[in-house]
This record gives sequence, structure tokens and C-alpha cells, in this order.
Amino acid sequence: MRNSRFEIRPSSPTVGAEILGVDLAQPLSAEETGELRAALNEYGVIFFRDQELSPEQHIAFAERFAPINVNRFFRSVADHPQIAEVRKEPAQTTNIGGGWHTDHSYDRAPALGSILLAREVPEHGGDTMFASMHHAYEALSDGLKRTLEGLRAVHSSRHVFGAAARYARDTAGRIGNAELATQDAVHSVVIRHPETGRKTLYVNAAFTLRFEGWTDEESKPLLDYLYAHAAQPQFQTRFQWRKGSIAFWDNRATWHFAINDYHGERRLMHRITLEGVPLS
Ligand code: SIN
Repeated sequence: MRNSRFEIRPSSPTVGAEILGVDLAQPLSAEETGELRAALNEYGVIFFRDQELSPEQHIAFAERFAPINVNRFFRSVADHPQIAEVRKEPAQTTNIGGGWHTDHSYDRAPALGSILLAREVPEHGGDTMFASMHHAYEALSDGLKRTLEGLRAVHSSRHVFGAAARYARDTAGRIGNAELATQDAVHSVVIRHPETGRKTLYVNAAFTLRFEGWTDEESKPLLDYLYAHAAQPQFQTRFQWRKGSIAFWDNRATWHFAINDYHGERRLMHRITLEGVPLS
């Protein structure tokens, strides 16, 4: 981005940028908000350091971009239902988000993105990886792109957050409301990003079940191919957290993966998720 009032340092050739020279505890002007939104659209995820925001400041920052989506499955921060906790205690072995996914693809209007603020981080590990679904799409052959253009896929939360799912059994109260995991949604496999118009691959291993009109068995080989393709390192960046770091990602443009390599230590993050729009 040219002539930005912030310093923007791309994290990789395909995804992510660190934004320097901004204090998110201060109210953002319309121009500053516009520049951060443009950076989010360009890089898919933007990172900030040393932002020890209060819950109220975190909420105020998020509300500059879109209304807040109150997550129905995650435990929230006391007195702040808008902020979900992403927590792993020293005795726990499973983490939240430990596989490639994009949040809320099971919703009919999937969330725009999330703003994750690190409250407590392990001494080593606990990084988050992000992958660009614009670049993953663009690197496909023209033939496969043409095939995918005609397809839609079914997404669901049932097998992740429902009563029979792993999360419902073993996350010690971090996830709840299994009875609300009832909604399925169908989205185009290649969406046009609602703000940039760029074509983006929109399937993910956590929530996508099958192509619409195909069986699970028929869908699996092509979905597995797309997941392996999109998870290649050239589409990725990896963010090393410090207390007070923030990652603000666009769910329509990226996947993310929270690495679970810090058993015996606590990691506590506060996540605000932003309302999105139906995708096409
Ligand atoms: C998430 O999947 O929203 C959590 C990501 C993280 O904890 O790094």
C-alpha cells in the first residue's frame, strides 16, 4: 500500500503483514480504519504488537469494522459476551483450532473475520499459521478452476461442535451449547471476495462435508486434493505470539491453524468475531 500513515511490513509473499506505528487503545479515525481495512483486504491477515487492550478497547476496535458476532459455542470472557476465550490449560492436551480451518463457514453469512488478542502465551510454541486462499486458488490449473466454478459445497458445525463431536467431550467446558450445532450452509466452492472481488477457494477440512449433489465418498478425493494443495508452504505465513500481540484475519480470504506444541503451559487468547455477509 502506498502513502499509508502506518508502516506495513509484509510477512510473506502471499499472506500477512505486520502493521507498525498504531496504538489500538486510541479511537481510530475513519481514515485509519479505512487504511487498516485496505491492508486486511490486501494481505488477508494483519498483525500488531504490544497492544495491551482492555476488553472495552478490544470491543471498540472491533466495532470500527463490523458488528460483533457472538460465538454460540465458545465460553466467553466474564461480563463480556462479545469476547470468546480460546484457552488451553497446562493439564489439557487438546487445543482449539488445531487444524486448518476458516471460522464459521457453517453459517449462511459466514463471519468476516476475527481479532485475536494474546493474553497469556507459552514460553515457546503456540504459533498460528495462516494460508492465503486467493493464492491457493490462483495456483490451480485452468481446467480445475473451470470444474470448481460450477460447484457448491455443504458446510456444517454438527460434527465439530455437536453432542457427538470431540469438542463436546474433551475440552473441559471451553466449548458448549452442542444443541445449537444444527445449521448447515451451502456456499460456492470458489467465491468472489465480498470486498475485493478476488476469486477465493472456499472449502476447509474442518467444516466442509461434501460437494452439493455429490456423496461424501465422491467428494473426498477432490476435497483432499484441494486441502493438500492449499496447505502448501508457499501460501502460508506463521505468526509467533507475544503477550499483547493481535492477529486480525479475514475468514473469506484465509485459513488458519493453531499449533498445539506447548503441553504443560497455559495459552489464553481473547477472540472477537465480526459479522459477515452471504457469499457468492
Ligand atoms: C482459532 O482458531 O480461532 C484460534 C486460533 C489460535 O488460537 O491461534
